[in-house]
This record gives sequence, C-alpha cells and structure tokens, in this order.
Amino acid sequence: MSENINRRRFITTAGASITGASLLTAKSYARVIGANERIQLGIIGSGGRGRSLMNEFRKFPDRCEFIAVCDVYEPNINAALKLSREGAKSTMDYRELLADKDIVAIVNGTPDHWHSNVLLDSVAAGKDVYTEKPFSYSIEQGAKMVKGVREKKQIVQVGMQRRSSEAVRGAKKLVEDGVLGEIVMARAQWYWNRKPMPAKLQLQGKLDWERFQGPAKKRYPLDERRFFHWRNFSDYNGGHMTDQGTHLMDVIQWFCNDGNPPRSAVCQGMIHAHKGGDVPDTFSAVFEYPTFLASWTLCYSNSFEDSWKITIQGRKATMVLDDDGYRIFPEPWQRPEIPPKPIHEYKGGIPTKPHVENFLDCIKSRQEPNAPVEVGHNAVTGPHLANMALRQQKRVVLQSNGAIAKA
Ligand SMILES: NC(=O)c1ccc[n+]([C@@H]2O[C@H](COP(=O)([O-])OP(=O)(O)OC[C@H]3O[C@@H](n4cnc5c(N)ncnc54)[C@H](O)[C@@H]3O)[C@@H](O)[C@H]2O)c1
Repeated sequence: MSENINRRRFITTAGASITGASLLTAKSYARVIGANERIQLGIIGSGGRGRSLMNEFRKFPDRCEFIAVCDVYEPNINAALKLSREGAKSTMDYRELLADKDIVAIVNGTPDHWHSNVLLDSVAAGKDVYTEKPFSYSIEQGAKMVKGVREKKQIVQVGMQRRSSEAVRGAKKLVEDGVLGEIVMARAQWYWNRKPMPAKLQLQGKLDWERFQGPAKKRYPLDERRFFHWRNFSDYNGGHMTDQGTHLMDVIQWFCNDGNPPRSAVCQGMIHAHKGGDVPDTFSAVFEYPTFLASWTLCYSNSFEDSWKITIQGRKATMVLDDDGYRIFPEPWQRPEIPPKPIHEYKGGIPTKPHVENFLDCIKSRQEPNAPVEVGHNAVTGPHLANMALRQQKRVVLQSNGAIAKA
C-alpha cells in the first residue's frame, strides 16, 4: 500500500468490511493516523461525563479531535458541539455516527442500559471505543459483551481511570512486594450527602425519549425524573451499587485477587433520603474472596470522610487509598500514638487524563489498554451479585461460568 494513500479512501476501504477493519495492524494504523494527523473521534452520549471526557481528550489537541456528536437531548448536543471541531456533525441516532468512515474511535458516555448496544455496534463498525463504566447492565450481558469485543480486533478501554493512576499503580506495587503481608480484610466506602431528586424537572430542549429508553425492558411515558436521574432507577442501571462499586471493587480484587471477582455476596440496603426511585442509597455488601473478606458500604445522606476510601488490612500493615493518594500504617497499633506514622505515603488523586492518553496510545500501537473488557466485566460482577443478594435476600454464589478471569 502506498505511503501517500489518501486517508479517507483507506478508512473507507477498511470500514467497508468489518473483517477488513479488524485486521488493521499497528503499522497500518500508523499510516491511517500519520504523525501529523489527529485521531477523528465521535461522542455518543454527551451528558455530564461525556463532556468531561471530551475535555480530557481535548488536552491532546495534536493527537485527536471530535468531529461528530450524538445525543438524544438537544441541549447536550449543542454543548458538545462547542467542544468539537468547527463544522462537526450531530445526530440523535448513533448508527449515523458509526456509518461515518472518518471516525476512528468512539467515546461512549451513555447511561448503563445503553452501554452494551453502543459498544458492540461500535466495534462491529470497526471503531475503537472508550466506553464508560460500569461495563454492563448484568453479569450475563457483560459476558456477551466480552465475547463480542474479543471476536473483533478493536481497542476497547473501559472508563475505570484508577487503572491508569500513578497513585493506584504505585500502591499495587507495594501490595505485590508484600508490604501488607497476608491480606485479611478489605473495605470500600463511598459517603456523600447528595441532594434528593427534585419533585419536578423541566426539559430545556428537545428530547427523544423513545431513544433514551431504547433497550430498557419496561416502557414509561415521558418522565423527566427518569431522564435526568436515571441512576435512581433499576430500569437503566444497577444503581449506586454498580455505579461506584465497580471502581472500588476493581481496585480491591486487582490488588488482592488477581483481578478476579468474589465467590459470593450478601447485602442489606434501604432507601433513606432518595425517595422516588427503586435503588438503595444506603447499603452494605459483604463479598467472599478465596483468602479474604471484603465489604462495600455506601451512604448518600451523610458525607463523613467525604467521597471514597479503600482500606486494605494485612497481617503486617494497613493501606488506605482515597483522593489524597495512599498511606500505609504498620502493625501493631500502639496507644497513645494512634494512628502510627505511615511507613509509605503518596499524595495524588485519580486523574482521567492518563487513562485517556493510554487509550490514544493504544489506538496507535494496537496494544492492550490498561482497562480492557475483562477488567470492566470482572469489576462489576461483585456489585451485580450484591444487587441480586439484596433483591433475593440471600447469599448469592457466582456460577463458575459467570466471570472471565483476567487481571
Ligand atoms: N468514570 C467515571 O468516573 C464516571 C463518572 C461519571 C459518569 N460515568 C459514567 O458515564 C455514563 C454517563 O453518565 P453521566 O453522569 O454523564 O449521565 P448523563 O445523564 O449526564 O449523560 C448521559 C447522556 O447520554 C444521553 N443518551 C441517552 N441515551 C442515548 C442514546 N441512545 N444515544 C445517545 N445519547 C444517549 C443522554 O441524553 C445524556 O446526555 C454512565 O455510565 C456513568 O456511570 C463515569
């Protein structure tokens, strides 16, 4: 193939057959995306997170640009167009965006009930994808998504930015080095004092409500609360259990269980402050891993120790990770100096920029990104199990075919 090949023609040819597109190697991609050319991106779902991701990608103006926007809510299309290249296209039907041969990669910022369709349709169209967490709507769906992605050769990064964080990777190295000793227990928590849903909400522009509902099983007449606060409804996601749990349980099982999900879960929960939906805003789940116990607690009506924290307790030391970085405290704790001085400390939060950069690197190199689909699937398997345990009011055990082991 000539080095001077017209880029548009090349992508058209590759995209004409999915097999052709999936056979692209790092070398051929390097030709498509020449040193001076920017990766052409399209966003599907340009709400809060979608636009925040667009801003992260915009930190690499020499490497990429958004040329198309898809959303089902007009105000979010207009806001995203302002973050895109001049003349960028927009649509409410994401299939139009996937048919655009110029688009190399998709950013999927839709709500969770849409993740699977958008991801699988995008890879089938020969696009690389940055797809937001939580990976799936259910364990069974997640397993199908992994299979569907692995049948193609596209690069897929799941939006679990802790996987690219210097702080988290540094902390993992210390656990690997045995600094904590044998792990006994791990605790994840998320405490926020969140405002309950307002009783009435007003649309600020056109909304394609049918397209929003999409693959959701139950249909409702237009309901602004369901649109703006879909996290509070199990029709569209696994609630706060999977929303935040996927981030934290991933770190715990990545550090302590080779990335594999728990064997079983039990859970208690209730709706305390966030009435009107059907997912708990206050819960505590306990997971059984082969050699340690883990818990995952969330409270959305009190902000003690604001936001997230993971505590991993070993026989030799305890590690605490949060937005400030990490600290490791030795054993045993002696009164009156509690807590003791940390033996390791790192200051630094969880930026998304390195995770986006890793995705852009992988689009070129065709290497596996830091959070591939197996990681996304395994990370949300425990929280899905906990939701089942809560609904069924019993201990739920993971079937042997329920998860794919890959750290
Ligand atoms: N990685 C992180 O730290 C992080 C942070 C926040 C959100 N998220 C994830 O990002 C996703 C979006 O969350 P959000 O807070 O931005 O929600 P949001 O409601 O603000 O945005 C979702 C957008 O998707 C649009 N949409 C719905 N159906 C669509 C369809 N069929 N086609 C195109 N657009 C469609 C909506 O109109 C809306 O603009 C969720 O899965 C969430 O879990 C991840």
